[in-house]
Amino acid sequence: MCGIVGYIGNREAYPIVAKGLQRLEYRGYDSAGIAIYGNGELKYSKTKGKVADMRRKLEAEIDPSGTIALGHTRWATHGVPNDINSHPHFSNSGNLVIIHNGIIENYDALKKELTSRGYSFSSDTDTEVLVNLIEDVIVKEGVKLGKAVQMTLNQVVGAYAIAVFDRRKPNEIVVARLGSPLAIGIGKDEYFIASDASPFIEYTNNVIYLEDGEVAVVRKEKGIKVRKIEDDTMVDPYVQELQLNLEQIEKGGFDHFMLKEIFEQPAAIRDTYRGRLLADEGIVSMAGVDDNLERFLNAKRIIVVACGTSWHAGLVSEYLIEELTRIPVEVEYASEFRYRNPIINRDDVVIAISQSGETADTMAAIKLAKERGAFVFGVCNVVGSSIARETHAGAYTHAGPEIGVASTKAFTTQITILALIALKLAKAKGTISKSDFQMHLQELETIPQKIEVALESNDAIREVAFRYKDARNCIYLGRGCNFPVALEGALKLKEISYIHAEGYPAAEMKHGPIALIDEEMPVVVIATRKGHYEKVVSNIQEIKSRKGKIIAIINEGDTSVRELADHVIEVPETMESLSPLVNTIPLQLLSYHIAVMLNKNVDQPRNLAKSVTVE
Ligand code: G6P
Repeated sequence: MCGIVGYIGNREAYPIVAKGLQRLEYRGYDSAGIAIYGNGELKYSKTKGKVADMRRKLEAEIDPSGTIALGHTRWATHGVPNDINSHPHFSNSGNLVIIHNGIIENYDALKKELTSRGYSFSSDTDTEVLVNLIEDVIVKEGVKLGKAVQMTLNQVVGAYAIAVFDRRKPNEIVVARLGSPLAIGIGKDEYFIASDASPFIEYTNNVIYLEDGEVAVVRKEKGIKVRKIEDDTMVDPYVQELQLNLEQIEKGGFDHFMLKEIFEQPAAIRDTYRGRLLADEGIVSMAGVDDNLERFLNAKRIIVVACGTSWHAGLVSEYLIEELTRIPVEVEYASEFRYRNPIINRDDVVIAISQSGETADTMAAIKLAKERGAFVFGVCNVVGSSIARETHAGAYTHAGPEIGVASTKAFTTQITILALIALKLAKAKGTISKSDFQMHLQELETIPQKIEVALESNDAIREVAFRYKDARNCIYLGRGCNFPVALEGALKLKEISYIHAEGYPAAEMKHGPIALIDEEMPVVVIATRKGHYEKVVSNIQEIKSRKGKIIAIINEGDTSVRELADHVIEVPETMESLSPLVNTIPLQLLSYHIAVMLNKNVDQPRNLAKSVTVE
């Protein structure tokens, strides 16, 4: 994980890099640092804590003027978060500066080798080993920095996005990537380097996404030269024009990105189905599926691989796809799938779901599935991300940037895409009647409006949050396709409020978790009308008779559950298969308000990162 930012050009580099790091804090925020070269001097500051802490320290300690700088915001892998382990790191001579996102797996052996030859290390990081190895190559081989980086990377095992410069030659930055993202923004006689394009979006729309296994030398006057690390071949990089704008990555009047993103869901879902869901014509149009329809229709099985919230979206899709298409679906944690020698057949279709498109475990699962001949379809939010590029075909969710670490709009837009796929396949396979298909399309089209109504309960949800903010535990129950919603609700609460929470299928409660129920235990039950309503009502009664506190998500006008529950939150009714899209909303808001009341850092919860590019 970690976020990296660099600048080389004619402007003051520090403000650009510092602001850029703040935009990348979603990638890690346990420590930060910046190194600047200016007025013939290499200056730096680094510290444990947030980018804002580092900025305060840096501005008090050094004069940050200079036109080349590298900055880093960290999510610790090797070595605890402290000032010394923070990046940038420096070579023993003090000439080379490096920032690194990723892990060097063979760093220990390399460190021993360098130590035996007189190198010393002040930090516990793999990155300090890497920068000294580059220095060693320069000294031993007499090569330039670009070549030295390339030769060094041929000796290391692991994942990286790095940027390096030499204080003796401050007109170039060398960057390279393998497994971690790296974007180069191209301005007029200036270049921006970052883990994604958000740090430089106000300066340029032109970007090169470095490919895995590439190294680039970025020179102020002479432009960019890209080569393959392994065999030194020159690469002609593809310059993309970005659609992203500044407004999309700002809070827009909301207190937190998470709240903004919760409220963006109606618009995000409309963006997801725009041009794809053509209800009047009775068509679902998705190029990635259309172009590969035979692969999907011949699939004996669909395997979904994902992590975290995306895995929950995958679980919802299992209900949808199986119900509508009768194709068997298996949903796997990517991290388990990749290490268990899974059975993958050539006629399997693998769907990989990832908001960031960079999750290392999901990426590895995709590579494994491809090796074994499966067709891999990606559902990603970040355009041009590694997973989007690695898969055979795919569909973007078009949710816009999701910056809050706890995923919200990515989840509902992923479900929207997966529902469209399920409907499209069902129609093509003939497993859905014309009228049922039409009904689904029309209902899906109304979901944004229903979410708007669900969002109106925000104040009521805040009151419920106030009542339960001091709970130590919480149980979430749902049945059918709302069981994954219960899991997602519990995950949201854990992630941002640090309250222990468990999601369970409502009927499983009697096989264990019921033992936890007492008057102290809040139980959030998804009890909307369709599906297994009567069964859920019985489950509520079981909790009630053990004095548990019930917070029920119900449909408007439901009086039976209202009588039983301690608190109800109303949401509009929709068809069972699409109800996860609406029922998730109050659960997101409940966890949000509890976290705010507990004074937690909602957008950057402890120990987490948005883009997990390590195993
Ligand atoms: C991290 C994030 C989660 C996310 C998961 C998968 O753990 O904190 O919010 O669901 O990664 O990320 P992806 O980008 O692959 O959806």
